[in-house]
Amino acid sequence: MRDYIKVFAPATVANVTCGFDIMGFAVDNPGDEVIMQLSNTPGIRITKITGDMGRLPLDPTKNTVGVSVYSFLKAINSNQGVEIILNKKMPLGSGLGSSAASAVAGVFAINQLLKTNVPPKELIAFAMEGERIACGAAHADNVAPALLGGFALIRGRDPLDVIKILTPSNLYCSIIHPDLEVSTKDARMILRPMVKLEDAVTQWGNVAGLIAGLMLSDYALISRSMHDVIIEPARSILIPGFTQVKQQALENGALGVGISGSGPSIFALSNGIDIAHKVAQAMQSSFDQLKIGHQIYISKINNTGVKIID
Ligand code: HSE
Repeated sequence: MRDYIKVFAPATVANVTCGFDIMGFAVDNPGDEVIMQLSNTPGIRITKITGDMGRLPLDPTKNTVGVSVYSFLKAINSNQGVEIILNKKMPLGSGLGSSAASAVAGVFAINQLLKTNVPPKELIAFAMEGERIACGAAHADNVAPALLGGFALIRGRDPLDVIKILTPSNLYCSIIHPDLEVSTKDARMILRPMVKLEDAVTQWGNVAGLIAGLMLSDYALISRSMHDVIIEPARSILIPGFTQVKQQALENGALGVGISGSGPSIFALSNGIDIAHKVAQAMQSSFDQLKIGHQIYISKINNTGVKIID
């Protein structure tokens, strides 16, 4: 029996403008790696974390990967010992689903090693426990696409109802990550708990339009629907240059632009790789003008999600 595995879980763009907490998609890169080894000594041990500049806790009860693996083992009544190495290959607090990628890699790895064959959709709930420890809210819009790949719609959370939405083949995503950090916890705390009915009507029209546009491969409808009148106005103040970056991306052909998850990364969707590159350059030059360092990622929608790499 295999007692070692190395897995990769991708970064994800949650919210996708109008779909706060209910929509997200996976990208090809960046992503996290988890190396897991079964052990005869019960308990979960995180033996090493790389790429986090010493910032993440090795204590498995405080680390998203440890918590999600623990919740899985508890559900199957197992006291299996595991040793985990976590290679963080994406920035923390970036809005790219960093905590979700680690959690997903962990639950996927343990399910593979123990041959428990829990279906991917049922692994989502365990990975959500990792999100709860990371930001105080067990949202699924990063973990679901990281696990399943593609574009995920979280129709309901209790009970969990996740639907994988087909996306047009020529849809590309450009992401710019400015060298800033926004904690998801803080970015959730600034949101107002009440929403105006008028804004809610606009928002749910856009959510429905975006899903219809993706399923019909109607790029114009996707573009018309990518507007967020509830969350973006509150959160964009946490990202210097957001308005300028967004405007530049739209002027260079992006279908739509928004905050990736809770930010500070900004994403754009485009029809075709050439436009995606042009949009990325436009976003870069905006941050260059502001003298804010950044990284760029360009990717198709990643339809695979988490995968074994060794
Ligand atoms: N839906 C979550 C939020 C995603 O916006 O707070 C966090 O990555």
